[in-house]
Amino acid sequence: MKNIKTYIEKNKDRFVDELIELLKIPSISADKQYKNDVIKTAEAVKISLEKAGCFKVKICETPGYPIVYGEHIIDKNLPTILVYGHYDVQPADPINLWDSPPFEPVIKKTEIHPEGAIFARGSCDDKGQMYMHVKAFEYMIRENELPCNVKFMIEGEEEIGSSSLEWFVKRNQEKLRNNVILISDTGMISNSQPSITTGLRGLSYVEVEITGPNRDLHSGLYGGAVANPINILTKMIASLHNDKNEITIPGFYNSVLNATAEERIEMSKAPFSLDAYKKALDIDAVFGEEGYTTNERNSIRPTLDVNGIWGGYIGEGAKTVIASKAYAKISMRLVPNQTPEEITNLFTEHFESIAPKSVKVKVTPHHGGHAYVTPTNNIGYKAANKAYTQTFGVKAIPQRSGGSIPIVALFEQELKSKTILMGFGLDSDAIHSPNEHFGIFNYLKGIETIPLFYKYYVALFNQK
Ligand code: BES
Ligand code: MN
Ligand code: MN
Repeated sequence: MKNIKTYIEKNKDRFVDELIELLKIPSISADKQYKNDVIKTAEAVKISLEKAGCFKVKICETPGYPIVYGEHIIDKNLPTILVYGHYDVQPADPINLWDSPPFEPVIKKTEIHPEGAIFARGSCDDKGQMYMHVKAFEYMIRENELPCNVKFMIEGEEEIGSSSLEWFVKRNQEKLRNNVILISDTGMISNSQPSITTGLRGLSYVEVEITGPNRDLHSGLYGGAVANPINILTKMIASLHNDKNEITIPGFYNSVLNATAEERIEMSKAPFSLDAYKKALDIDAVFGEEGYTTNERNSIRPTLDVNGIWGGYIGEGAKTVIASKAYAKISMRLVPNQTPEEITNLFTEHFESIAPKSVKVKVTPHHGGHAYVTPTNNIGYKAANKAYTQTFGVKAIPQRSGGSIPIVALFEQELKSKTILMGFGLDSDAIHSPNEHFGIFNYLKGIETIPLFYKYYVALFNQK
Protein backbone atom coordinates (compact mmCIF):
# COMPACT_ATOMS: atom_id res chain seq x y z
CA MET A 1 0.00 0.00 0.00
CA LYS A 2 2.79 2.35 -0.93
CA ASN A 3 0.44 4.68 -2.74
CA ILE A 4 -2.11 5.31 0.02
CA LYS A 5 -0.36 8.48 1.17
CA THR A 6 -0.21 9.81 -2.40
CA TYR A 7 -3.84 8.90 -2.96
CA ILE A 8 -4.90 10.79 0.17
CA GLU A 9 -2.71 13.77 -0.68
CA LYS A 10 -4.28 13.95 -4.14
CA ASN A 11 -7.87 13.51 -2.98
CA LYS A 12 -8.00 15.05 0.48
CA ASP A 13 -9.91 18.17 -0.52
CA ARG A 14 -12.56 16.08 -2.20
CA PHE A 15 -12.73 13.76 0.85
CA VAL A 16 -13.39 16.76 3.07
CA ASP A 17 -15.91 18.31 0.66
CA GLU A 18 -17.88 15.08 0.40
CA LEU A 19 -18.06 14.73 4.17
CA ILE A 20 -19.19 18.33 4.47
CA GLU A 21 -22.09 17.62 2.09
CA LEU A 22 -23.16 14.67 4.22
CA LEU A 23 -22.95 16.76 7.39
CA LYS A 24 -25.35 19.33 5.96
CA ILE A 25 -28.28 16.92 6.24
CA PRO A 26 -29.72 17.06 9.77
CA SER A 27 -30.25 13.34 10.35
CA ILE A 28 -31.52 13.63 13.93
CA SER A 29 -33.11 10.28 14.67
CA ALA A 30 -34.59 11.33 18.01
CA ASP A 31 -36.79 14.05 16.51
CA LYS A 32 -39.63 13.04 14.13
CA GLN A 33 -39.50 16.48 12.51
CA TYR A 34 -36.29 15.39 10.77
CA LYS A 35 -37.69 12.15 9.40
CA ASN A 36 -37.19 13.12 5.75
CA ASP A 37 -33.64 14.24 6.40
CA VAL A 38 -32.78 10.97 8.10
CA ILE A 39 -34.10 9.07 5.08
CA LYS A 40 -32.28 11.44 2.73
CA THR A 41 -29.04 10.69 4.57
CA ALA A 42 -29.52 6.96 4.06
CA GLU A 43 -29.88 7.66 0.30
CA ALA A 44 -26.71 9.77 0.33
CA VAL A 45 -24.75 7.02 2.10
CA LYS A 46 -26.02 4.47 -0.42
CA ILE A 47 -24.90 6.62 -3.36
CA SER A 48 -21.50 7.21 -1.75
CA LEU A 49 -20.92 3.47 -1.38
CA GLU A 50 -21.93 2.87 -4.98
CA LYS A 51 -19.65 5.63 -6.21
CA ALA A 52 -16.81 4.16 -4.17
CA GLY A 53 -17.27 0.95 -6.15
CA CYS A 54 -19.34 -1.31 -3.95
CA PHE A 55 -21.02 -3.99 -6.11
CA LYS A 56 -24.32 -4.32 -4.35
CA VAL A 57 -25.83 -1.61 -2.15
CA LYS A 58 -29.36 -1.65 -0.84
CA ILE A 59 -31.55 0.43 1.37
CA CYS A 60 -33.13 -2.12 3.69
CA GLU A 61 -36.43 -1.07 5.17
CA THR A 62 -37.06 -1.81 8.85
CA PRO A 63 -39.86 -0.96 11.28
CA GLY A 64 -37.88 2.26 11.87
CA TYR A 65 -35.20 4.03 9.85
CA PRO A 66 -33.59 2.14 6.96
CA ILE A 67 -30.27 0.35 7.08
CA VAL A 68 -27.82 0.92 4.25
CA TYR A 69 -26.35 -2.46 3.42
CA GLY A 70 -23.53 -2.93 0.93
CA GLU A 71 -21.77 -6.08 -0.11
CA HIS A 72 -18.56 -6.47 -2.04
CA ILE A 73 -17.68 -10.14 -2.31
CA ILE A 74 -14.57 -10.78 -4.37
CA ASP A 75 -13.84 -14.39 -3.41
CA LYS A 76 -15.83 -16.70 -1.16
CA ASN A 77 -12.61 -18.24 0.19
CA LEU A 78 -11.31 -14.95 1.50
CA PRO A 79 -12.27 -13.56 4.92
CA THR A 80 -15.08 -11.03 5.23
CA ILE A 81 -14.94 -7.79 7.21
CA LEU A 82 -18.26 -6.33 8.33
CA VAL A 83 -18.08 -2.57 8.72
CA TYR A 84 -20.69 -1.00 10.98
CA GLY A 85 -21.41 2.69 11.49
CA HIS A 86 -24.33 5.06 11.95
CA TYR A 87 -25.58 7.93 9.82
CA ASP A 88 -27.94 9.38 12.43
CA VAL A 89 -26.82 12.12 14.80
CA GLN A 90 -27.75 13.55 18.18
CA PRO A 91 -30.07 16.56 18.42
CA ALA A 92 -28.11 19.81 18.15
CA ASP A 93 -29.62 21.68 21.07
CA PRO A 94 -28.82 23.85 22.92
CA ILE A 95 -28.44 25.56 19.52
CA ASN A 96 -27.48 28.94 21.01
CA LEU A 97 -24.27 27.47 22.43
CA TRP A 98 -22.92 26.66 18.95
CA ASP A 99 -20.42 29.14 17.52
CA SER A 100 -21.63 28.25 14.00
CA PRO A 101 -24.84 26.51 12.90
CA PRO A 102 -24.64 22.74 13.57
CA PHE A 103 -25.63 21.76 10.03
CA GLU A 104 -23.52 24.35 8.20
CA PRO A 105 -20.08 22.76 8.55
CA VAL A 106 -17.06 25.05 8.86
CA ILE A 107 -13.35 24.29 9.15
CA LYS A 108 -11.54 25.99 12.00
CA LYS A 109 -8.12 25.55 13.58
CA THR A 110 -7.92 24.74 17.29
CA GLU A 111 -5.07 24.21 19.72
CA ILE A 112 -5.52 20.45 19.51
CA HIS A 113 -6.25 20.49 15.77
CA PRO A 114 -3.73 22.89 14.21
CA GLU A 115 -4.48 21.40 10.77
CA GLY A 116 -8.12 22.34 11.20
CA ALA A 117 -11.26 20.53 12.28
CA ILE A 118 -14.72 20.27 10.74
CA PHE A 119 -17.32 21.73 13.10
CA ALA A 120 -20.77 20.20 12.66
CA ARG A 121 -23.16 17.86 14.44
CA GLY A 122 -22.14 14.31 13.52
CA SER A 123 -18.68 15.28 12.26
CA CYS A 124 -17.05 12.86 14.69
CA ASP A 125 -20.08 10.85 15.90
CA ASP A 126 -20.40 9.17 13.53
CA LYS A 127 -20.67 10.52 9.98
CA GLY A 128 -17.01 11.51 9.80
CA GLN A 129 -15.74 8.23 11.21
CA MET A 130 -18.18 6.17 9.15
CA TYR A 131 -17.21 8.02 5.97
CA MET A 132 -13.51 7.21 6.53
CA HIS A 133 -14.49 3.62 5.76
CA VAL A 134 -16.21 4.60 2.54
CA LYS A 135 -13.12 6.53 1.40
CA ALA A 136 -10.69 3.80 2.53
CA PHE A 137 -12.79 1.36 0.51
CA GLU A 138 -12.74 3.70 -2.49
CA TYR A 139 -8.94 3.73 -2.32
CA MET A 140 -8.71 -0.07 -2.13
CA ILE A 141 -11.05 -0.49 -5.11
CA ARG A 142 -9.44 2.15 -7.32
CA GLU A 143 -5.90 1.04 -6.57
CA ASN A 144 -6.68 -2.66 -6.65
CA GLU A 145 -5.71 -3.14 -3.03
CA LEU A 146 -8.83 -4.73 -1.58
CA PRO A 147 -7.57 -8.00 -0.06
CA CYS A 148 -10.87 -9.53 1.12
CA ASN A 149 -14.66 -9.32 1.10
CA VAL A 150 -16.48 -6.42 2.73
CA LYS A 151 -19.99 -5.91 4.01
CA PHE A 152 -21.17 -2.47 5.05
CA MET A 153 -24.03 -2.02 7.48
CA ILE A 154 -24.77 1.62 8.26
CA GLU A 155 -27.79 2.28 10.45
CA GLY A 156 -29.90 5.33 11.28
CA GLU A 157 -30.99 4.63 14.85
CA GLU A 158 -27.82 4.25 16.90
CA GLU A 159 -28.50 7.37 18.91
CA ILE A 160 -31.94 6.10 19.89
CA GLY A 161 -31.03 2.55 20.82
CA SER A 162 -30.64 0.56 17.55
CA SER A 163 -33.89 -1.35 17.95
CA SER A 164 -34.45 -1.69 14.20
CA LEU A 165 -30.91 -2.91 13.72
CA GLU A 166 -31.51 -5.58 16.34
CA TRP A 167 -34.57 -6.61 14.36
CA PHE A 168 -32.50 -6.66 11.14
CA VAL A 169 -29.56 -8.61 12.58
CA LYS A 170 -31.81 -11.28 14.07
CA ARG A 171 -33.42 -11.82 10.65
CA ASN A 172 -30.25 -11.77 8.56
CA GLN A 173 -27.65 -13.84 10.35
CA GLU A 174 -26.66 -15.69 7.18
CA LYS A 175 -26.35 -12.59 5.04
CA LEU A 176 -24.31 -10.80 7.70
CA ARG A 177 -21.90 -13.68 8.27
CA ASN A 178 -18.36 -12.33 8.70
CA ASN A 179 -14.97 -13.01 10.25
CA VAL A 180 -14.60 -9.76 12.11
CA ILE A 181 -16.62 -6.60 12.69
CA LEU A 182 -14.89 -3.26 12.29
CA ILE A 183 -16.26 -0.06 13.82
CA SER A 184 -14.99 3.50 14.01
CA ASP A 185 -17.35 5.13 16.49
CA THR A 186 -15.10 5.63 19.52
CA GLY A 187 -12.07 7.71 20.39
CA MET A 188 -8.35 7.48 21.00
CA ILE A 189 -6.06 8.97 23.64
CA SER A 190 -4.47 11.72 21.53
CA ASN A 191 -3.15 12.44 18.06
CA SER A 192 0.30 11.30 19.16
CA GLN A 193 -0.90 8.30 21.16
CA PRO A 194 -3.38 6.07 19.35
CA SER A 195 -5.43 3.61 21.35
CA ILE A 196 -7.80 0.79 20.51
CA THR A 197 -11.03 0.63 22.45
CA THR A 198 -11.28 -2.73 24.18
CA GLY A 199 -14.41 -2.13 26.21
CA LEU A 200 -17.73 -0.33 26.11
CA ARG A 201 -20.12 0.14 28.99
CA GLY A 202 -23.68 -1.07 28.93
CA LEU A 203 -26.66 1.13 29.62
CA SER A 204 -29.90 1.16 31.52
CA TYR A 205 -31.94 4.32 30.99
CA VAL A 206 -35.09 5.21 32.88
CA GLU A 207 -37.46 8.09 33.21
CA VAL A 208 -39.09 8.76 36.57
CA GLU A 209 -42.23 10.68 37.38
CA ILE A 210 -43.22 11.78 40.88
CA THR A 211 -46.82 12.85 41.40
CA GLY A 212 -47.96 14.73 44.47
CA PRO A 213 -51.28 16.61 44.65
CA ASN A 214 -53.70 16.32 41.72
CA ARG A 215 -53.06 19.91 40.58
CA ASP A 216 -50.45 22.64 40.91
CA LEU A 217 -50.98 24.42 44.23
CA HIS A 218 -50.39 27.86 45.70
CA SER A 219 -47.09 27.46 47.56
CA GLY A 220 -48.26 29.75 50.34
CA LEU A 221 -51.65 28.19 50.96
CA TYR A 222 -50.40 24.61 50.74
CA GLY A 223 -46.63 24.88 51.23
CA GLY A 224 -45.41 22.93 54.23
CA ALA A 225 -48.53 20.81 54.45
CA VAL A 226 -48.41 18.87 51.19
CA ALA A 227 -45.46 16.96 49.77
CA ASN A 228 -43.67 18.92 47.05
CA PRO A 229 -42.81 16.43 44.26
CA ILE A 230 -39.69 18.38 43.29
CA ASN A 231 -38.39 18.43 46.87
CA ILE A 232 -39.14 14.73 47.18
CA LEU A 233 -37.60 13.80 43.82
CA THR A 234 -34.34 15.63 44.52
CA LYS A 235 -34.09 14.01 47.95
CA MET A 236 -34.72 10.56 46.45
CA ILE A 237 -32.10 11.16 43.77
CA ALA A 238 -29.59 12.43 46.31
CA SER A 239 -30.03 9.25 48.33
CA LEU A 240 -28.95 7.09 45.37
CA HIS A 241 -25.29 7.73 46.23
CA ASN A 242 -23.60 7.47 49.62
CA ASP A 243 -20.75 9.65 50.82
CA LYS A 244 -18.20 7.44 49.09
CA ASN A 245 -20.11 8.14 45.86
CA GLU A 246 -21.15 4.52 45.66
CA ILE A 247 -24.59 3.67 44.35
CA THR A 248 -26.94 2.69 47.16
CA ILE A 249 -29.44 0.59 45.20
CA PRO A 250 -29.40 -2.81 46.95
CA GLY A 251 -27.75 -5.44 44.77
CA PHE A 252 -26.50 -2.89 42.22
CA TYR A 253 -22.92 -4.18 42.33
CA ASN A 254 -23.75 -7.86 42.88
CA SER A 255 -23.06 -9.09 39.37
CA VAL A 256 -20.20 -6.70 38.54
CA LEU A 257 -17.24 -8.54 37.07
CA ASN A 258 -14.42 -6.65 38.76
CA ALA A 259 -11.30 -5.80 36.81
CA THR A 260 -8.32 -7.76 38.10
CA ALA A 261 -5.40 -6.11 39.87
CA GLU A 262 -3.25 -6.78 36.78
CA GLU A 263 -5.80 -5.14 34.52
CA ARG A 264 -5.88 -2.09 36.76
CA ILE A 265 -2.10 -1.86 36.75
CA GLU A 266 -2.10 -2.10 32.94
CA MET A 267 -4.74 0.66 32.77
CA SER A 268 -2.76 2.96 35.01
CA LYS A 269 0.12 2.90 32.53
CA ALA A 270 -1.83 4.79 29.87
CA PRO A 271 -0.68 8.40 29.60
CA PHE A 272 -3.06 10.65 31.50
CA SER A 273 -2.72 14.06 33.07
CA LEU A 274 -5.22 14.89 35.77
CA ASP A 275 -4.23 18.54 35.54
CA ALA A 276 -4.87 18.69 31.81
CA TYR A 277 -8.16 16.86 32.35
CA LYS A 278 -9.33 19.39 34.94
CA LYS A 279 -8.12 22.30 32.87
CA ALA A 280 -9.95 21.11 29.76
CA LEU A 281 -13.21 21.02 31.71
CA ASP A 282 -12.59 24.11 33.88
CA ILE A 283 -13.05 22.17 37.10
CA ASP A 284 -11.00 22.49 40.27
CA ALA A 285 -11.42 18.89 41.36
CA VAL A 286 -12.56 15.61 39.93
CA PHE A 287 -15.27 13.57 41.55
CA GLY A 288 -16.29 9.93 41.81
CA GLU A 289 -16.38 6.60 43.53
CA GLU A 290 -13.87 6.28 46.34
CA GLY A 291 -10.98 3.93 45.68
CA TYR A 292 -10.84 4.37 41.91
CA THR A 293 -8.89 6.59 39.56
CA THR A 294 -10.53 8.93 37.07
CA ASN A 295 -9.87 6.54 34.20
CA GLU A 296 -11.33 3.66 36.18
CA ARG A 297 -14.36 5.67 37.21
CA ASN A 298 -15.19 6.45 33.61
CA SER A 299 -14.66 2.99 32.16
CA ILE A 300 -14.61 -0.07 34.42
CA ARG A 301 -17.06 1.15 37.08
CA PRO A 302 -20.84 1.41 36.80
CA THR A 303 -22.48 4.79 37.32
CA LEU A 304 -25.80 6.49 37.89
CA ASP A 305 -26.41 10.00 36.54
CA VAL A 306 -29.35 12.32 36.18
CA ASN A 307 -29.43 13.47 32.55
CA GLY A 308 -32.32 15.86 32.88
CA ILE A 309 -34.69 17.05 35.59
CA TRP A 310 -37.75 19.23 35.31
CA GLY A 311 -41.02 20.31 36.83
CA GLY A 312 -42.66 23.41 38.27
CA TYR A 313 -42.17 26.95 37.09
CA ILE A 314 -39.04 27.80 35.12
CA GLY A 315 -40.26 30.89 33.27
CA GLU A 316 -39.22 34.47 33.91
CA GLY A 317 -39.69 35.97 37.33
CA ALA A 318 -41.21 34.18 40.30
CA LYS A 319 -44.37 32.13 40.35
CA THR A 320 -45.31 30.74 43.72
CA VAL A 321 -46.35 27.20 43.03
CA ILE A 322 -46.04 23.64 44.22
CA ALA A 323 -46.08 21.55 41.08
CA SER A 324 -48.19 18.46 40.86
CA LYS A 325 -45.42 16.52 39.11
CA ALA A 326 -41.65 16.30 38.89
CA TYR A 327 -39.57 14.32 36.41
CA ALA A 328 -36.04 13.10 35.79
CA LYS A 329 -34.18 11.06 33.19
CA ILE A 330 -31.56 8.80 34.69
CA SER A 331 -28.83 6.79 32.98
CA MET A 332 -26.91 3.96 34.53
CA ARG A 333 -23.73 2.88 32.76
CA LEU A 334 -23.10 -0.80 33.23
CA VAL A 335 -20.01 -2.97 33.25
CA PRO A 336 -19.56 -6.62 32.24
CA ASN A 337 -22.04 -9.10 33.72
CA GLN A 338 -24.56 -6.46 34.80
CA THR A 339 -27.57 -6.75 32.51
CA PRO A 340 -29.84 -3.82 31.67
CA GLU A 341 -32.90 -5.89 32.65
CA GLU A 342 -31.48 -6.72 36.08
CA ILE A 343 -30.37 -3.16 36.80
CA THR A 344 -33.59 -1.59 35.55
CA ASN A 345 -35.55 -3.91 37.85
CA LEU A 346 -33.33 -3.19 40.84
CA PHE A 347 -33.64 0.53 40.22
CA THR A 348 -37.42 0.41 39.87
CA GLU A 349 -37.95 -1.65 42.99
CA HIS A 350 -35.64 0.53 45.04
CA PHE A 351 -36.93 3.84 43.73
CA GLU A 352 -40.50 2.85 44.47
CA SER A 353 -39.54 1.66 47.94
CA ILE A 354 -37.87 4.93 49.00
CA ALA A 355 -40.78 7.17 48.04
CA PRO A 356 -42.81 8.53 50.93
CA LYS A 357 -46.55 7.74 51.02
CA SER A 358 -47.30 11.36 50.14
CA VAL A 359 -46.34 10.86 46.48
CA LYS A 360 -46.78 8.33 43.68
CA VAL A 361 -43.86 7.04 41.62
CA LYS A 362 -43.78 5.90 38.01
CA VAL A 363 -40.62 4.46 36.44
CA THR A 364 -40.54 4.05 32.67
CA PRO A 365 -37.60 2.09 31.21
CA HIS A 366 -36.05 3.31 27.95
CA HIS A 367 -33.51 1.52 25.74
CA GLY A 368 -30.62 -0.35 27.26
CA GLY A 369 -27.66 -2.43 26.28
CA HIS A 370 -24.97 -4.77 27.52
CA ALA A 371 -21.34 -3.88 28.12
CA TYR A 372 -18.69 -5.32 25.84
CA VAL A 373 -15.07 -6.28 26.36
CA THR A 374 -12.92 -7.48 23.50
CA PRO A 375 -9.81 -9.62 23.91
CA THR A 376 -6.43 -8.34 22.73
CA ASN A 377 -5.01 -11.72 21.73
CA ASN A 378 -7.01 -12.20 18.54
CA ILE A 379 -5.89 -11.41 15.01
CA GLY A 380 -8.34 -8.53 14.72
CA TYR A 381 -6.74 -6.65 17.60
CA LYS A 382 -3.25 -7.51 16.35
CA ALA A 383 -4.05 -6.27 12.86
CA ALA A 384 -5.47 -3.03 14.22
CA ASN A 385 -2.38 -2.52 16.36
CA LYS A 386 -0.06 -3.10 13.40
CA ALA A 387 -2.05 -0.65 11.31
CA TYR A 388 -1.93 2.12 13.94
CA THR A 389 1.73 1.47 14.64
CA GLN A 390 2.53 1.98 10.97
CA THR A 391 0.56 5.20 10.48
CA PHE A 392 1.23 6.88 13.85
CA GLY A 393 4.74 5.57 14.42
CA VAL A 394 3.87 4.34 17.94
CA LYS A 395 2.07 1.27 19.23
CA ALA A 396 -1.59 1.63 20.10
CA ILE A 397 -2.65 1.21 23.73
CA PRO A 398 -5.71 -0.87 24.65
CA GLN A 399 -8.24 1.28 26.46
CA ARG A 400 -11.67 0.61 27.90
CA SER A 401 -14.16 3.34 27.15
CA GLY A 402 -17.06 4.60 29.18
CA GLY A 403 -19.42 5.09 26.25
CA SER A 404 -21.90 2.58 24.92
CA ILE A 405 -22.63 1.03 21.54
CA PRO A 406 -25.29 -1.45 22.67
CA ILE A 407 -25.45 -3.29 19.36
CA VAL A 408 -21.88 -4.59 19.74
CA ALA A 409 -22.86 -7.12 22.42
CA LEU A 410 -25.76 -8.21 20.23
CA PHE A 411 -23.39 -8.72 17.27
CA GLU A 412 -21.39 -11.14 19.36
CA GLN A 413 -24.51 -12.96 20.50
CA GLU A 414 -26.18 -13.21 17.08
CA LEU A 415 -23.27 -13.26 14.64
CA LYS A 416 -20.68 -14.87 16.91
CA SER A 417 -17.95 -12.52 15.85
CA LYS A 418 -15.66 -10.13 17.67
CA THR A 419 -15.73 -6.41 17.12
CA ILE A 420 -12.64 -4.26 16.68
CA LEU A 421 -13.19 -0.66 17.73
CA MET A 422 -10.82 1.52 15.72
CA GLY A 423 -11.81 5.00 16.83
CA PHE A 424 -10.13 8.19 15.64
CA GLY A 425 -12.03 10.82 17.64
CA LEU A 426 -10.73 12.69 20.67
CA ASP A 427 -12.58 13.29 23.95
CA SER A 428 -12.20 17.01 23.27
CA ASP A 429 -14.12 16.71 19.98
CA ALA A 430 -17.30 17.45 21.95
CA ILE A 431 -19.52 14.68 20.60
CA HIS A 432 -23.17 15.15 21.70
CA SER A 433 -22.24 18.70 22.77
CA PRO A 434 -22.38 22.07 21.06
CA ASN A 435 -19.45 22.67 18.67
CA GLU A 436 -18.83 19.00 17.92
CA HIS A 437 -15.85 18.71 15.58
CA PHE A 438 -13.54 16.19 13.95
CA GLY A 439 -9.89 16.88 13.15
CA ILE A 440 -8.93 16.75 9.50
CA PHE A 441 -5.74 15.04 10.64
CA ASN A 442 -7.88 12.38 12.36
CA TYR A 443 -10.15 11.98 9.36
CA LEU A 444 -7.27 11.47 6.95
CA LYS A 445 -5.32 9.26 9.39
CA GLY A 446 -8.39 7.08 9.65
CA ILE A 447 -8.58 6.74 5.88
CA GLU A 448 -4.90 5.83 5.84
CA THR A 449 -5.06 3.33 8.71
CA ILE A 450 -8.17 1.38 7.69
CA PRO A 451 -6.73 -0.23 4.50
CA LEU A 452 -3.74 -1.35 6.57
CA PHE A 453 -6.11 -3.09 8.96
CA TYR A 454 -7.53 -4.99 5.99
CA LYS A 455 -4.07 -5.89 4.78
CA TYR A 456 -2.77 -7.13 8.14
CA TYR A 457 -5.99 -8.87 9.02
CA VAL A 458 -5.91 -10.93 5.85
CA ALA A 459 -2.20 -11.67 6.29
CA LEU A 460 -2.72 -12.89 9.88
CA PHE A 461 -5.83 -14.80 8.82
CA ASN A 462 -3.84 -16.69 6.20
CA GLN A 463 -1.20 -17.62 8.78
CA LYS A 464 -3.76 -19.19 11.10
N1 BES B 1 -20.28 6.72 19.42
C1 BES B 1 -21.00 6.84 20.64
C2 BES B 1 -20.44 5.98 21.75
C3 BES B 1 -19.00 6.20 22.14
C4 BES B 1 -18.37 7.41 21.96
C5 BES B 1 -18.31 5.16 22.69
C6 BES B 1 -17.05 7.58 22.33
C7 BES B 1 -17.01 5.33 23.08
C8 BES B 1 -16.36 6.54 22.88
C9 BES B 1 -22.46 6.47 20.39
O1 BES B 1 -22.97 7.12 19.25
C10 BES B 1 -23.30 6.92 21.54
O2 BES B 1 -23.45 8.09 21.72
N2 BES B 1 -23.87 5.99 22.30
C11 BES B 1 -24.79 6.32 23.33
C12 BES B 1 -25.67 5.17 23.65
C13 BES B 1 -26.91 5.06 22.80
C14 BES B 1 -27.78 3.92 23.25
C15 BES B 1 -27.71 6.34 22.77
C16 BES B 1 -24.07 6.68 24.59
O3 BES B 1 -22.97 6.15 24.87
O4 BES B 1 -24.61 7.50 25.33
MN1 MN C 1 -21.67 7.02 17.67
MN1 MN D 1 -23.47 9.21 19.86
